[in-house]
Formats: sequence, structure tokens, C-alpha cells
Amino acid sequence: MKRILTVCLGNICRSPLAEVILKAEAQKLGIAVHVESAGTAGYHVGAQADSRSIQVGRKHSVDISKHKAQKFIPAFFDQFDLILVMDKNNYRDVVAQATSAEQRTKVKMYRPDELDVDDPYWGKDADFETMYQVLQEHATSHLQ
Ligand code: 4NP
Repeated sequence: MKRILTVCLGNICRSPLAEVILKAEAQKLGIAVHVESAGTAGYHVGAQADSRSIQVGRKHSVDISKHKAQKFIPAFFDQFDLILVMDKNNYRDVVAQATSAEQRTKVKMYRPDELDVDDPYWGKDADFETMYQVLQEHATSHLQ
């Protein structure tokens, strides 16, 4: 079974939503996957997802209300096959913790065009909707 970790900064806005979208798309396609999410920073460890991400998820029928934030740790390099980061800062922060070329090659930008999934934390509700659309658009590309 493919094991995928989605990663953002706080693990409360982007990566928890990416996690459930990947699970939902995998289920629709009948693909068995294990998906978790984590943040490169520890500010929100143990916290629920951001209420605005919970809301936008609810609007699109995905539930992240039970999410609890966790911090990325180097052990995840061995526990996951693919580590999908949301932006270039996440990429830098995760790759800096890799200790081999094999670990480094597991880290990929979520967007296939390698643009950032922009951080909506300081933004408006519309930025959360845009984030959802971007995450949804590219989800199936990670399930091949
Ligand atoms: P996330 O968003 O990385 O998508 O979970 C953020 C959450 C919290 C903060 C920044 C971004 N923060 O600065 O606390």
C-alpha cells in the first residue's frame, strides 16, 4: 500500500485538507493508500484544523474536524513513500532533515508545476476556497 505524507507549515490549514482529499479520491478510485499530514513547525501540535479549513472541507463534503496537528519528524522519511510539500519553504525545511539521496527524492511539491499551494492562514475565506480547488485539481496525479 502506498504511504503518502502531506506537509505544510502549521498542519492546520493546507496539509490536513490535502490528506482527506487524497483519501477521498483514492477511495473513489478503489486504490488502497495510507495518508497522514504533518507541519514543519510545532506551533500547533495537538490542535484541531483551522476552522476555515474545516468549513471549506465541509462545503465540499470532506471532514477534517477530527484532525490533530503533528510535527514532521525525520522518522517519517522511512514511514512514507511520498512526502508532498505545499510550498518551497516546506520543501527546504523537509529536505534539510534528509540524511540520504533516497530520502530527499521522496520529497515532492504537491503541485506538479512546482508552484506553491499558497498559505491561506493570513488570507480571506476566498483564499481557503482557492486552496481547496488547487488541492482537489492535483490530487489524482499522486495516486498513480
Ligand atoms: P498551514 O497554515 O501551514 O497551511 O497549516 C499556517 C498555519 C499556521 C501558521 C502559518 C500557516 N502560523 O503562523 O501559525
